[in-house]
Amino acid sequence: MEDYAQIEKEYVMRSWSCQADVKVNMIEKADGIYFWDKSGKRYSDFSSQLNSTSCGHNVKEINDGIVEQLNKYAYIGPGLGSEARAKLAKMVADIAGPNYKRTFFSSSGTEANEAAVKAAKWFTGKYKIISRYQSYHGATGIAMMLTGDPRRYPNEPGYPGILHGPDCYCYRCPFKMEYPSCDIMCARYIGDMIRFEAKETVAAVIAEPIVGSNGIIPPVKEYFPMLREICDQYEVLLIADEVMTGFGRTGKWLAIEHYDFKPDIITTAKNLSATYVPLGGTTYSKKVSDYFEDHWFVEGHTYAGHPLACAAGVATINYMKKNKLVENAAKMEKVMEKRLNEIKADHKSVGDVRGKGLFWGVELIKNTKTKEQAGTREEKFMRGHVPIPAKVAGECMKNGVFFLQMVSTLLFAPPLNITEQQIHEALDVVDKALEISDKEVVK
Ligand SMILES: Cc1ncc(COP(=O)(O)O)c(C=O)c1O
Repeated sequence: MEDYAQIEKEYVMRSWSCQADVKVNMIEKADGIYFWDKSGKRYSDFSSQLNSTSCGHNVKEINDGIVEQLNKYAYIGPGLGSEARAKLAKMVADIAGPNYKRTFFSSSGTEANEAAVKAAKWFTGKYKIISRYQSYHGATGIAMMLTGDPRRYPNEPGYPGILHGPDCYCYRCPFKMEYPSCDIMCARYIGDMIRFEAKETVAAVIAEPIVGSNGIIPPVKEYFPMLREICDQYEVLLIADEVMTGFGRTGKWLAIEHYDFKPDIITTAKNLSATYVPLGGTTYSKKVSDYFEDHWFVEGHTYAGHPLACAAGVATINYMKKNKLVENAAKMEKVMEKRLNEIKADHKSVGDVRGKGLFWGVELIKNTKTKEQAGTREEKFMRGHVPIPAKVAGECMKNGVFFLQMVSTLLFAPPLNITEQQIHEALDVVDKALEISDKEVVK
């Protein structure tokens, strides 16, 4: 019998890795909130893979929706009409609300952001884009440069006109100020950036409504309404990257609903099709959509609006509605919040706990006085070195709980149908593993 683990190890180019260091764990089966490896060991999927299998694994209704489309036809190009694509575009517009109209469907969050930025440039006739440092927006040309985290560095130099501003990150305020007396300096500074760069050159500001892989950082409630006002003042578009937060993750269909503002463009992927088939979406406000009625939308891919992906999207949204998954995410927020705060009280290495719905970050520290981070950006690309948060995640994996971590934060984003008991089972394992990071606390 072929050893596919060995073949994978030798022939697959793994993302974000030194290939020689990759340890292959072959997965045999996945169902509900669990997956199983080749040895039969079961793991609780406490990050929904890449925060993406929002409905859990092997959902019959989603599988059936894809198969039904497959039996009709697998592919029809974007220049011909497809019922699944039309249905999904209308469903997304209905979820986004009356301010929004057309969606461009692609295959990833990266492509969704590329399509957002391109449209912002054509619409405004300007070219600069302001992003933020605690951000990830994707892995190709523009999206990689929009990214503020260390994955950008080896890919530089990038494109002219992409700038990074400060983050709304109260636990580590870039201005060392206190909320609310700060008067939301992080938002106001972006206004300064637009002025200093010349408003005639800035096309858009892009931001994740709740920062995702860079630490799950919800903003203060005033931040986005203020940013909206600043963008309007300077005729700059506001793009909300909802690739992680969209479609139920935060206890609302879209995270923008928490913050009472309307971006000009919303980008989605991941939970849009529960990642059963690759799918990205760029949803344009009426204002931006209307512009393209008589201006060229110069963007496209062979896979744009792929019928199988769109069918997966339709089935995902229908499944979420039928099973009230958004409501469950909102309900489970209290369970996560309470238990994680108890964990924080018991572990000196837990510096901060924050989140919404089923989207929670646990930031680890090494020093309770200085809040020194337990993992740093610099450590990200240190070969052979395992940062503390990665050690904690590794211990949990050994004990059957899978989740992602980045820099200094453990990232929890379980499937939206998780139960209270399943949350506690996973967090019992996390609770125990945090003894590892506690031992590293120097003060
Ligand atoms: C906020 C955000 N935007 C964009 C992306 C890129 O999406 P993709 O990996 O589907 O290209 C990601 C991926 O994790 C993300 O978290």
